[in-house]
Amino acid sequence: MKHILIFPASQRHDSINRKLAVWLAQHLIGNVSIDVLESNSVDFPLFNQDLETDSEIIRKIIPVYNRFNTADAIVIVSPEYNGSVSPYLKNSVDWVSRLSRIAPDQYLNPFQEKPLMLASATAGASGGILGLQAARQIFSFLGSVVLAEQLCMPRANAAWDSESNPRDSEFVEWAYHAMNRLLTLTGPSSMSDETFELALASNF
Ligand SMILES: Cc1cc2nc3c(=O)[nH]c(=O)nc-3n(C[C@H](O)[C@H](O)[C@H](O)COP(=O)(O)O)c2cc1C
Repeated sequence: MKHILIFPASQRHDSINRKLAVWLAQHLIGNVSIDVLESNSVDFPLFNQDLETDSEIIRKIIPVYNRFNTADAIVIVSPEYNGSVSPYLKNSVDWVSRLSRIAPDQYLNPFQEKPLMLASATAGASGGILGLQAARQIFSFLGSVVLAEQLCMPRANAAWDSESNPRDSEFVEWAYHAMNRLLTLTGPSSMSDETFELALASNF
């Protein structure tokens, strides 16, 4: 069974990105286990290289590092902040990326060669396309295989129906396509054609 880590990259209580992340977690159907990395597990100070060997901070980084490292694939769901990623995403990834630099004998780069899908929900009309460009740059730099397929959900406060599914059927169809591609890249765990059709049908 393949293991997928989903990171909602907002700490906000009513985060629309977390809502999208949870929906993706519920609809990534296949022979996979899902781990949603909630913000109460990520308690890092603002990155400062003078602190990167601080044992108290490293103690907090290691369990989060392990969750990235053991994942076979990663899904990042980030708000767009001023045309870029959330500071929470950048800060978390900067910390997690440092272990393999500080102690390369003990820690591998947890992003290297890993299939990674990007998604964003925004309150406004952009859907986060600029933020995802910035995220693509970061994770490509870190060695991930960033999918061409990405999800942008504009006007996300009003984008959900009463059953907590996206109202936009084209968004749902594209999301299934992107998730299926992620599963295909992750290994022998993609949705069968039949499962894919059934999953899609259940959302319309
Ligand atoms: C500092 C800041 C910058 C923002 N920049 C953008 C932006 O560039 N594009 C956009 O569509 N929304 C922007 N927004 C609005 C966010 O889309 C909105 O606050 C959203 O709810 C954040 O996601 P979350 O609910 O998952 O935390 C910004 C919000 C803040 C607080």
